[in-house]
Amino acid sequence: MTSPTHLPSWKALSEHRAEVDATSIQQIFDTHSDRITECTVNAAGWTLDFSKNRATSKTLSLLTQLAKEADIESLRNKMFQGDTINSTENRSVLHTALRASHAQESLVVDNSNVLAEVRSTLKQMEKFVWQLQSGQWRGYSNKKILDVVSIGIGGSYLGPKVVTEALKPYAQDTIRVHYIANIDGSDISEKLKKLDPETTLFIVSSKSFGTLETLYNANASREWFLRNGGQENQIHKHFAAVSSNVKKAVEFGIAEENIFPMWDWVGGRYSLWSAIGLPIAVSVGMENFRALLDGAHEMDTHFKTAPLEKNLPVIMGTLGIWYCNFYGAQSHVLIPYDHYLRGLPAHIQQLDMESNGKANHQDGSNTEIDTGPIIWGGSGTNGQHAYHQLLHQGTRLVPVDFIAPLTTHNPVNDHHLQLFANCVSQSQALMVGKTLTQAKDELKNSGATNEQINKIAPHKVIKGNRPSNTLLTEKLTPFTVGSLIALYEHKTFVQGAIWGINSFDQWGVELGKVLGTDIAQRLSSSTDNAELDTSTQALIEAFKKAQS
Ligand code: F6P
Repeated sequence: MTSPTHLPSWKALSEHRAEVDATSIQQIFDTHSDRITECTVNAAGWTLDFSKNRATSKTLSLLTQLAKEADIESLRNKMFQGDTINSTENRSVLHTALRASHAQESLVVDNSNVLAEVRSTLKQMEKFVWQLQSGQWRGYSNKKILDVVSIGIGGSYLGPKVVTEALKPYAQDTIRVHYIANIDGSDISEKLKKLDPETTLFIVSSKSFGTLETLYNANASREWFLRNGGQENQIHKHFAAVSSNVKKAVEFGIAEENIFPMWDWVGGRYSLWSAIGLPIAVSVGMENFRALLDGAHEMDTHFKTAPLEKNLPVIMGTLGIWYCNFYGAQSHVLIPYDHYLRGLPAHIQQLDMESNGKANHQDGSNTEIDTGPIIWGGSGTNGQHAYHQLLHQGTRLVPVDFIAPLTTHNPVNDHHLQLFANCVSQSQALMVGKTLTQAKDELKNSGATNEQINKIAPHKVIKGNRPSNTLLTEKLTPFTVGSLIALYEHKTFVQGAIWGINSFDQWGVELGKVLGTDIAQRLSSSTDNAELDTSTQALIEAFKKAQS
């Protein structure tokens, strides 16, 4: 797998751009009465409307051809069957197996049936969640657990936190779930000061059990527990762990029966479906957690079986490539019009940017084309009063994903109608824009003088023709949240496969970790820093001075 630029469809798309530039999204609607039918696809509880894109029928068919020529189907099949497609770490990539254990009996990888392991872990989770929620699990003073604190970072934090937030309407009242990630004393202090050690249980989530931030926070939590009444021999009642490194978790003091397994074949940012999702299950119950897995599994099945031109991850992935590589778009924005999905952009940001922020093809050669765009976003309508200005009139092309449920969990007056109206009108405004004539007429009708009209009208022009997808679902449920996240996982996969990169390693984060250890050592010692650059030296000195 190397550069896709030699593919016939890539060359055809380069030439085709001029044809697309000669028209506009609106003109495509005007000339194609069946545009909306052609550009609407349903899967796993979601409807994707991708009609408001700078893509004609020919563009769409060239993009499908690109996916075909890049042979994403073969890589996809390899992923599902457990081949070691993460070549730089020599690992299988099997997050899809985490949600397939009810549908398939066995999947043997390295002589072991991973689905049997998944089923047994789900059972272990079930027991744990039931014990906590029923009040059978008691703290050291025989009180019920009321607060569960998840300690983890990156994939061991973002996915679970975002899903817990998204499924708040399904939260059982018995236990509150909190998250600590950052290595910032202020974060952990603020969280712990509201908690009672007698009724608090910590879940230390770390695949490696070697991540600095997580170990610092886990140690600080254990110290807090011991300082406030707990004893060493009671730690097992207040600490559990999810890790593939059982030895290190045991060394930390966690009882072996409280350790939930993780496997090498699950990447951190794809791990919310494993026991890393335990805090989600504690919050919403096991039945809802299983529904989350079912939703993701249905999206997996769609991805595996739907024809490429009707395949949501393929459509979204290839359209993303169209903008990234043929229009030079540097970023992609996700705008959920739902309070419960406000954290989604942060999770997809890690998922996508840690996966596809790469500059080497699988064979080690440099990619001479752009790969993963900058993923960002936030909840509508807040963004409309902040960064949407740039989406409408800025110089950069930023493709948008609007995401909205059709019904709300919290009807208040006609809030939901207004919220949805905002979502639809934003995609409409991005597409239609405003011409100079319209701007002038508007000013004229408001009584402006000719001089004022000429001065102000150019500032009111909005070019329009800005692309967006809209994803709709009937209701936000565990099932639809599961399928939505799986959709973005597979979209990321499709793009990585076309770019010919390995979406499943993350070597880039390693250097920062190594240098971080060195700098931490320098901050607390009298080491001579002369060999460092003068900026780094000055920053170290500023810190040391402030501590003295
Ligand atoms: O940020 C890098 C990373 O390796 C992520 O991929 C991972 O999710 C996170 O650190 C945490 O790792 P662990 O679960 O091993 O603590």
